[in-house]
Amino acid sequence: MEHLVVAGAARLAGEVAVDGAKNSALKLMAAALLAEGTTRLSRVPAILDVDIMGEVLRRLGCRVEHDAPAGTVEVEVPAAVGTEADYDLVRRMRASIAVLGPLVARRGEARVALPGGDAIGSRGLDMHIAGLNQLGATVESEHGYLIARAGRLKGATIWLDFPSVGATENLLMASVLAKGTTVIDNAAREPEIVDLCDLLVAMGAQLEGAGTSTLVIDGIDALSPAPGVHETVADRIVAGTFAVAAVMTQGDVTVRRARADHLMVALDTLSATGAQVEPLPDGFRVSMEHRPRSVDVVTLPFPGFPTDLQPAVIAMSAVSDGVAMVTENVFEARFAFCDELTRLGADLKTDGHHAIVRGRPYLSGAPVVASDIRAGAGLVLAGLVADGPTEVSEIRHIDRGYVRFDEQLRALGANVRRVPVTDPFDEM
Ligand code: UD1
Repeated sequence: MEHLVVAGAARLAGEVAVDGAKNSALKLMAAALLAEGTTRLSRVPAILDVDIMGEVLRRLGCRVEHDAPAGTVEVEVPAAVGTEADYDLVRRMRASIAVLGPLVARRGEARVALPGGDAIGSRGLDMHIAGLNQLGATVESEHGYLIARAGRLKGATIWLDFPSVGATENLLMASVLAKGTTVIDNAAREPEIVDLCDLLVAMGAQLEGAGTSTLVIDGIDALSPAPGVHETVADRIVAGTFAVAAVMTQGDVTVRRARADHLMVALDTLSATGAQVEPLPDGFRVSMEHRPRSVDVVTLPFPGFPTDLQPAVIAMSAVSDGVAMVTENVFEARFAFCDELTRLGADLKTDGHHAIVRGRPYLSGAPVVASDIRAGAGLVLAGLVADGPTEVSEIRHIDRGYVRFDEQLRALGANVRRVPVTDPFDEM
């Protein structure tokens, strides 16, 4: 077991490059199931979730090679791919649910364990299920499994109640092999969805509207693996985390291999705090010369402010000048992280979807626990602007979304160390 010890009073300066997006790579791997043969991906982040998805695919009969240092993944899918993703893996990573759509489309049957996942609120599957029903599948829940069955899926018009990323992806991957035309309305528009659409089109799928709220898919009989190698889109959440860190530490950070156009609302928010934000051809530069001004933030589906950056922005508000109201519209329980931030001396209150954060000049280092990926990153950022060291435990969560976060922060001048810990109560 390891902790991160973060020294306070940091100022981040220098350059950092981001990897491909975790939230895209996992779905691209699941999409490989749609075609017999070998799908090749590059710029895949070296994180545990990629290994878990690799294992999900292996147990479905695929050969998976993940060269972590090179950032490549090769998935060879057999003609008769399996149909079951078991609890042992799905409970470790909720994104395993992304195999549901491809399997029911390809095999007419899928048994996927019901996920547990991150401790960030109820994450229903109702839109996934209702959409599959509309495509002609029956979906039942039995002994902790979702069991979907269908003959060939049939195109349908599906209206999502909310632009869910996961439901859009599953229904998109199911409908590319359905008979006839499917329309997914109120679809999610995240860059990771566009990345998935690009791969599907390279595999032969007929679809239009990627990046808009209406996806129109003309189903075909079979897909084939994309020729060449598909490069995963840049991780906008990791890029955005460094941007927020630059502002709160009054630093100067250039984020390379990133897409400023995937972070427009977040970068505008940072400009409103008084930071200089300069888009670059391969990323952006964020610099700050004074304490940030407090700004209100509202999380929304893309292109709105990303919920995955909400903990980072709350940490920033905790040391900003003024009062900020942060409204969470995507994951209601995400404010659980605020209790930990309070341990660092943050002055904040939550009420339903809102957090009111009164900024202080600095926080006060203390031991805290990372409850999920983004909360963990938010706590590390808070530690950078605390007085004294902050010890963050349960950092396995952070490692699921940030490749070598501590190394990257050190390269920007922070004093962040990984220390092994032994818990005397572990044996009891
Ligand atoms: C993905 C991302 C996650 C990000 C989120 C929103 C991955 C692996 N994870 O999660 O990092 O925070 O998008 O950008 O890509 N919902 C329902 N019923 C459903 C589906 C969703 O009620 O059938 C609700 C969820 O409970 C949640 C909201 O819709 O409150 C958003 O969920 P969704 O967009 O589906 O997020 P994920 O795909 O799970």
